[in-house]
Amino acid sequence: MTRGKNISGDFIFKENANGTLEFVGDFEALYRHDPDPWGQLGGDERMGAYYAASRQNIARLLSAHLAGGTVLEVGCGFGQVCATLAAQLPQHIFVGADISDTAVQKAQHNFPALHFFQGDVTHKNFSGSQPHYDAVIINQVLWYVLEGFEGLLNNMVRMVKPQGVLMFCNAFMRTPQRYGKDKIDGFDGLVRALMNHACARHFQLIDARLTHDETLLYDDGYVVMRRVERG
Ligand SMILES: C[S@@+](CC[C@H](N)C(=O)[O-])C[C@H]1O[C@@H](n2cnc3c(N)ncnc32)[C@H](O)[C@@H]1O
Repeated sequence: MTRGKNISGDFIFKENANGTLEFVGDFEALYRHDPDPWGQLGGDERMGAYYAASRQNIARLLSAHLAGGTVLEVGCGFGQVCATLAAQLPQHIFVGADISDTAVQKAQHNFPALHFFQGDVTHKNFSGSQPHYDAVIINQVLWYVLEGFEGLLNNMVRMVKPQGVLMFCNAFMRTPQRYGKDKIDGFDGLVRALMNHACARHFQLIDARLTHDETLLYDDGYVVMRRVERG
């Protein structure tokens, strides 16, 4: 195979000669190699401005749709989102999970009052510190779990409590999508994929929006669903 230009040092995606991206998914290696993957610690000013707006939006949505309870953030990285939300929403308890052990250890070190654990959310044995959660947030993780999307949704059916909330939040680029278009084609594709999946028997769509702010690096999309049982 012809190798193209490195992307994330080839740890997460590599670029093929025809410009398409191939998923590699070595998150542990990325975290060992890069002190601030995706600029999640705020080192990059433009990324930081987008993250601040997006994380504010998550806090608003959570407080609007869930009065309190235990919230699991999947793909928590260094735990910045859990910590930001915990500071704003004291009636909720935040728990973070990430596939990278290095990320989890740093999160636990930085935020000892919160609980973090290692796990692959797409795997059938993914389990948390408790069997069920009042809410699960999947924030800035979408493009990394497409290959295991089925497994992820099955885990959500198992892990979100009745009346609980499942929330996807993600950046959407304004340039043409170069990876995963066959599985999820942009924000509308995400909503369609969720509504057409068997999990729609268990989750009702309560809010979905793609917001565009010219001053931010990305469009910000979110989908909020409530766990219900249908006969
Ligand atoms: C772009 S970072 C987002 C970090 C954090 N949510 C934030 O917004 O700052 C994506 C994170 O998803 C994690 N991740 C990727 N695939 C995962 C999987 N299958 N299970 C759990 N975490 C995963 C990565 O290790 C990485 O920390």
